[in-house]
Amino acid sequence: TKPKVTVVGSINMDLTVSTPVIPKQGETVLGDRFATYPGGKGANQAVAASRLGADVRLIGAVGEDAFGDELARHLESEGIGLSGLTKLPEISTGTATIILCEQDNRIIVAPGANAEVTPEYVESMRALIKDSDILLVQLEIPMETIRKVAELAEEYQIPLVVNPAPYHDLPKEVLEIATFLTPNESEAVLLNEALDADFQDKCVTTKGALGVEVTLNGEKVIVPGYRVPVEDTTGAGDTFNGALVTRIALGYSLEEAVQFANAAAALSITKEGAQSGMPTKKEVEMLIEERGTEG
Ligand code: RIB
Ligand code: NA
Repeated sequence: TKPKVTVVGSINMDLTVSTPVIPKQGETVLGDRFATYPGGKGANQAVAASRLGADVRLIGAVGEDAFGDELARHLESEGIGLSGLTKLPEISTGTATIILCEQDNRIIVAPGANAEVTPEYVESMRALIKDSDILLVQLEIPMETIRKVAELAEEYQIPLVVNPAPYHDLPKEVLEIATFLTPNESEAVLLNEALDADFQDKCVTTKGALGVEVTLNGEKVIVPGYRVPVEDTTGAGDTFNGALVTRIALGYSLEEAVQFANAAAALSITKEGAQSGMPTKKEVEMLIEERGTEG
């Protein structure tokens, strides 16, 4: 049976422009292409998990506007349960303005409706949370909401994965309750300054093409990544997180789950758009079969 993954997080429309040069202050440059793609760390992670075989529910909010309608339809077409989705009047759907320049990406998020995913709203979704095998959050919704999810995770003894992106300091309580924290390299630097040594073992740190650092039997090891041609790294971390929770909920060891998530993330960056390249379970298994576990 499918593991029940509940994601509490953001839903954005990504407004993506690719350009050969990034404008300096006061400068205008001509870019190449513009496209809109479904995004938001919460929605991206939900889609990744769904494609990889989880029964996914997303708790989040969009505005009553064209982007909101489009994103809700899109999530539905990805097989994601929408009983936790609300459409709010008089506030815009979250957007992310993304500048893609060669292998670099820069993102400005305007939270809009995502800022209205409150602790009270999560409380109203208690039954959905209770009925989950694993919970996954990121930091594009208010921190009090993250705290609330952590409290429910503890109350019902459900594993919780916290992706500290974009980086904010986390309350001690959340650090204590989280089963795993999944920073990228730059988030890890900030997080480690805030972490007691006892929490460092919970870190699953993504290091791009290098792979992922985890603590196994008290020792830090690197689980190697897979080298692939890069089209767009937006959402690679989200693919990793969605894959990781799905495999953990299925009962795989941390090392096995990370290996699978590495392969999924690698495939995701071979296409433009956060979700466009997100693979199915079959595609991930094929990559692992082709390349082995050594990347
Ligand atoms: O992690 C990538 C995502 O961050 C994008 O889809 C964008 O919406 C921002 O939230
Ligand atoms: Na992609």
